[in-house]
Amino acid sequence: SLVDKANYRHFMAKEIHEQPEVIGHTLARYVDMASERVSLPVKLPFDFKDIQRVTITACGTASYAGYVAKYWFERMARLPVEVDVASEFRYRESPLRKGDLAIFISQSGETADTLAALRYAKAEGVHTLAVVNVPTSTIARESETVLQTLAGPEIGVASTKAFTCQLMVLASLAIAAGKARGELSDEDETKLVHGLVEIPRLMADALTTELQIEKLAHRIAKSRDVLYLGRGTSFPLALEGALKLKEISYIHAEGYAAGELKHGPIALIDETTPVVVIAPNDRVFEKTVSNMQEVAARGGNIILMTDAKGAAEATVDSLVTIVMPDMPAAFTPMVYAVPVQLLAYHTAVVMGTDVDQPRNLAKSVTVE
Ligand code: AGP
Repeated sequence: SLVDKANYRHFMAKEIHEQPEVIGHTLARYVDMASERVSLPVKLPFDFKDIQRVTITACGTASYAGYVAKYWFERMARLPVEVDVASEFRYRESPLRKGDLAIFISQSGETADTLAALRYAKAEGVHTLAVVNVPTSTIARESETVLQTLAGPEIGVASTKAFTCQLMVLASLAIAAGKARGELSDEDETKLVHGLVEIPRLMADALTTELQIEKLAHRIAKSRDVLYLGRGTSFPLALEGALKLKEISYIHAEGYAAGELKHGPIALIDETTPVVVIAPNDRVFEKTVSNMQEVAARGGNIILMTDAKGAAEATVDSLVTIVMPDMPAAFTPMVYAVPVQLLAYHTAVVMGTDVDQPRNLAKSVTVE
């Protein structure tokens, strides 16, 4: 059944491993495989052509899915996006333009701050769209449009499969927006959807890094601090990696945009601080590599996640490389989420923490 651990030691492990399957289910709901077109399960009550700005609001991991989506909407649909954590958005009295779109992302659909933000947005007269995993939840009930993630029940407090399913829904929606706004041609759409269709297989490939990551986790477990770096859509994934490690292993971690390194965080680099670099072979790869050289020059201990091992190792030595499958650059966060989650999970297992029920945390934060 979906709510037992099957042969896994923790729900989190089971939920990480379920991802190729549940991402496949989510994909099947949002794209038409035969024609390779996006096909949303509901008719949107607005036209993306009329939207001037999208506001995305969520908490924690769901907010990082929102940050990734910002890159997608802006690139594919030339649609400006603001992303905010709900606890800030709800009190800021952000002016919203009537008829614009506000998106709320939540696994549980019960997060108090996200719900309050939704109610604020409704009162401002914008269209509200919820990306939720629990279709009977309050946020789902109160939103104008609901796009469900088909992750199935997520039991582990650390969100894993809900996050990647949120990304799948948001990627489909961004393509739909690009199409509606005339920024993507039919041909572009086919190419992008083709990329999405490959994701379940690529995630299954990414799961084969587990043994290597398990070994690395013993090193991470000895560290006091860990840095995560990424650019572009890998930047929010760096934030997610740091959050995941903190919440279940209790090791201090921070995620930074790789280009911000010289503006402060590089002062932290020494031989004892592992630096996890998320660098798929995309348009900013070379830039991230040069940041990596700066880390290496200061004795930093780099763990690199990339599909361009050769290019990276040619310029930086003393790397540990987690080799990722070759893939088109557009949707890497869904696939790179896998080693990021596995690293946090195995580190927590080494530390002996209560992985599924970490101290001080609740699965859904229903009070402010
Ligand atoms: C993720 O690992 C966290 N436990 C947490 O940040 C979570 O994503 C956040 O509380 C939002 O929850 P929701 O998706 O149910 O709204």
